[in-house]
Amino acid sequence: MQVANTREGWGAVQQALYWTIGLTVLGQLCVGLIFSNLPENDPAAGTYFGIHGTLGVLIFTAMLFRLVWRQMHPVPALPDTLSPSLKLVARGTHWAFYVLLIGLPLGGWLMVNARGYRVSFFGLELPALIAKNQPLAEIVFKFHAGGAFLLAGLIVLHVGAALRHEFLLKDNTLRRMTPLPPRTDPLVQSTAFTGSRSTWSDNRRSDEKSRGRL
Ligand code: HEM
Repeated sequence: MQVANTREGWGAVQQALYWTIGLTVLGQLCVGLIFSNLPENDPAAGTYFGIHGTLGVLIFTAMLFRLVWRQMHPVPALPDTLSPSLKLVARGTHWAFYVLLIGLPLGGWLMVNARGYRVSFFGLELPALIAKNQPLAEIVFKFHAGGAFLLAGLIVLHVGAALRHEFLLKDNTLRRMTPLPPRTDPLVQSTAFTGSRSTWSDNRRSDEKSRGRL
């Protein structure tokens, strides 16, 4: 397997980052929900707080690295089994993940500092980015909680789309994010990842052609 991406598939680095970040984010959502619902003065709160901060900083750093890596290497084309409008939804969802997975940790950090505390990274207290500011902490909390629920919704959408590719469209979209070999069905080969960036008008022309209008 290639280390870097090609126009046809994701390389080992992006695949490893994808699955590690994905699983960490799922854990992070659970930890966030558990510790924000603990009774006041629960002795376990400090432990959950430390885990939540540490995972958040790891996700933030991994996402920045992923973003830089993405800019430095080719990005595989979306499959041609998707209509132009679904390609737009797919691209929008992917960018929303970048915004949320960089914005949520940053917002969490600001919220904790605005409450007058420090973020803990493996027990090490990180510097405060801003001074204590309770009204700001309340506003940032609303964004943090709202962003986390939006993220959970996008994850459901994303997993649903991946399963549709694998089991209904039967193309290689999910497989190319894993070390599994691609499907060799000749129909799949001819419909997916030709790498062409077809536009809406290209698709309409080919529809009309197939109906014998052109
Ligand atoms: C990808 C990163 C992150 C995700 C997905 C995430 C997710 C969540 C979720 C789901 C909640 C519960 C929201 C609710 O009660 O409705 C939460 C709460 C919280 N998060 Fe995060 N978080 C992230 C990063 C961070 C970071 C880096 C910090 C900084 C230490 C942080 C600090 C907090 C705090 C203090 C709360 C509890 C707020 C409260 O109930 O008073 N979060 N987070």
